[in-house]
Amino acid sequence: MIPIQCKISPSILAADFTQLGKELDRVNNADLIHIDVMDGHFVPNISYGVPIARAVKAATDVPLDIHLMIDEPERFIHDFAVLKPEFITIHYEAVTHLQRAAAYIREQGVKVGVALNPHTPLDGLQYVLDDIDMILIMTVNPGYGGQGFIPAMENKIRDCRHMIREYPIDIQVDGGITKENIARLWRAGANIFVAGSAIFQSENPAEYIEEMRLSKG
Ligand code: DX5
Ligand code: ZN
Repeated sequence: MIPIQCKISPSILAADFTQLGKELDRVNNADLIHIDVMDGHFVPNISYGVPIARAVKAATDVPLDIHLMIDEPERFIHDFAVLKPEFITIHYEAVTHLQRAAAYIREQGVKVGVALNPHTPLDGLQYVLDDIDMILIMTVNPGYGGQGFIPAMENKIRDCRHMIREYPIDIQVDGGITKENIARLWRAGANIFVAGSAIFQSENPAEYIEEMRLSKG
């Protein structure tokens, strides 16, 4: 049985960008810092890119978790990899040669995540399980923070955990995650929890992170 560790990854998309350094201090007990990169093409929104990721890296000791919601992510993998993040996650729907892109991320000493939009089946991943370290199950349609969790994703998490049962692969969930739904998602098999609005809109983000850890059961 492969040990499964719970990790909380606050998404800075919901932070106050005018106070980014202070916002990062408020989540310095997190396991990861989630950075949502959007290109206005793969998703209908533009967020930020390498310069902001570099600034975040300089301002925190918490490892970075970079979520690329961009077309042709291969073009930017190296620029993000030099920041030595824990994960670089690319979207299944955004690449033609997934295995090659995954190998390219690993070559640079970074763990590989592959994200699936809510409608994307798990099947496409079954022959690349040796090449990836994390599966990100999107629990909203990517592009915006503050959306509601899509309930059908709970079964997808369960099916995913079954599919990877013999592999040391993390399952991350992203979108509409709160301390109220973390327990059932942990039971379904997710172990890395991204939360933007829930954490940054709370009174005390560090305390909220701790509450998430406790409420998972
Ligand atoms: C959505 C992003 C998420 C987003 C989550 O496209 O990938 O990481 O910041 O935000 P909340 O937690 O507010 O749903
Ligand atoms: Zn994300």
